[in-house]
Amino acid sequence: MISKRMKLADAVHMNYLLLYVIDRFGIKLGFGDKSVEEVCREYNLDSEFFIEIVNSFVDENYIPSSDINTFPTEQAVEYLKNTHTNYLEVQIPEIESLIHEMVQNCSLDKKNVVILNNFFEEYRQELETHIKREEEAVFPYVLKVTEAFRHQKVSKDLIDEMKEYSINDFASEHDNVEEKLYDLKNIIIKYLPPVDDPHLCHKILIELFNLEKDLNDHALLEDRLVVPIVAEKEAYLRKIYIQQ
Ligand SMILES: [Fe+2]
Ligand SMILES: [Fe+2]
Repeated sequence: MISKRMKLADAVHMNYLLLYVIDRFGIKLGFGDKSVEEVCREYNLDSEFFIEIVNSFVDENYIPSSDINTFPTEQAVEYLKNTHTNYLEVQIPEIESLIHEMVQNCSLDKKNVVILNNFFEEYRQELETHIKREEEAVFPYVLKVTEAFRHQKVSKDLIDEMKEYSINDFASEHDNVEEKLYDLKNIIIKYLPPVDDPHLCHKILIELFNLEKDLNDHALLEDRLVVPIVAEKEAYLRKIYIQQ
């Protein structure tokens, strides 16, 4: 487990995939021998929250603890948004360009490579829709509930919104975008006939495995941390201000 006193550099040596995580917190490399706590202080980050995120990334069985009064919802939403941007602007385009390279370099039967390309294109669109829904509807609602809870003041608009919608509606419709990646990996592992460049195939697979792990972790943060905290705040606000 990673602790606040541990050097951040040692944490990265323990699990290099943490590079993605620290980047989304806005932390730049070159932190020398500073501890996790020191780096968090420098970047104005809640170190408790940082530790929970990092540990649940390192160990999927880790159950993050959170307190309704201290959980930094705004920081969590910021982190989730940075992760979305990273998927759409870095990870997905990288995989896309590797797949395009494979289509272009394929001198054998192109049919299956084209199927793979189309499948990924469909996947990208699905992921974009998923992210758009969260950023345009869910996160603004999360922030409004957080603000209302903090100031113990609920606007008429929010009362109307809460009558129509609840964070549990989001939880029940929140689909598993990572599941389809499993099928995508299988197309390459099981069904793609020999291609000209097997190393390119391996590269694509490694990127897909990393993205799948990352998406899984991302969904856990949404489902296990943000949803329960917001649900608790919502229940409180409903009881006091709506009395349904
Ligand atoms: Fe998300
Ligand atoms: Fe999501």
